[in-house]
Amino acid sequence: MARIDLSQLSPLAATPRGWLETVLADFDGFLMDHASAEKKASGMAMSMVSHYPDQPSIVRAMVELAVEELNHYREVMRLILARQLTPAADLKDPYIHALNGQVRKANEHFLLDRLTVAAVVERRGAERFALLADNLYDDPALQRFYQAIAASEQRHWELFLDLAVEHFDVATVIERFNELSQREAKIIQTLPLRAALH
Ligand SMILES: [Fe+2]
Ligand SMILES: [Fe+2]
Repeated sequence: MARIDLSQLSPLAATPRGWLETVLADFDGFLMDHASAEKKASGMAMSMVSHYPDQPSIVRAMVELAVEELNHYREVMRLILARQLTPAADLKDPYIHALNGQVRKANEHFLLDRLTVAAVVERRGAERFALLADNLYDDPALQRFYQAIAASEQRHWELFLDLAVEHFDVATVIERFNELSQREAKIIQTLPLRAALH
């Protein structure tokens, strides 16, 4: 599998100051959003399977991913239920909505954009879960949980880029990923801070 030289990618813009404090101030609220994000990630992976049923590399990777994300959802839901919180319906994620708006619908671009948007989203998730884990020192079990989640999301964004370079040339993938990363950096600056992953 062709792998991308990660040093050619735009560096990740840092999460705005205040995000961590906002999350820690309403950690129960954050957990509810986190559960929702994992469930949606699993659903997104299965939607890729449905969209590209004849592409073995996509089906193989996305089935595995769907199961892994669903496991994350189960683990977060266990935390929610252990805290005796009432599970609630998913809310719209304005960050995901804005990034999905960058996906070009034409056939020749759609797959590239789905994969590179997913890579951008997973990279941000990896950064934020690691940031959170670094600051959960008073709860070692929760800290280990978020370290594991961060490591998993780190693998995922590289997985999406690996898939992209199986279908498109490396320069095209890097160019699109970097464009989307720059847009993403603007999006996170404009969205209000919430006790949520995004
Ligand atoms: Fe996940
Ligand atoms: Fe993920």
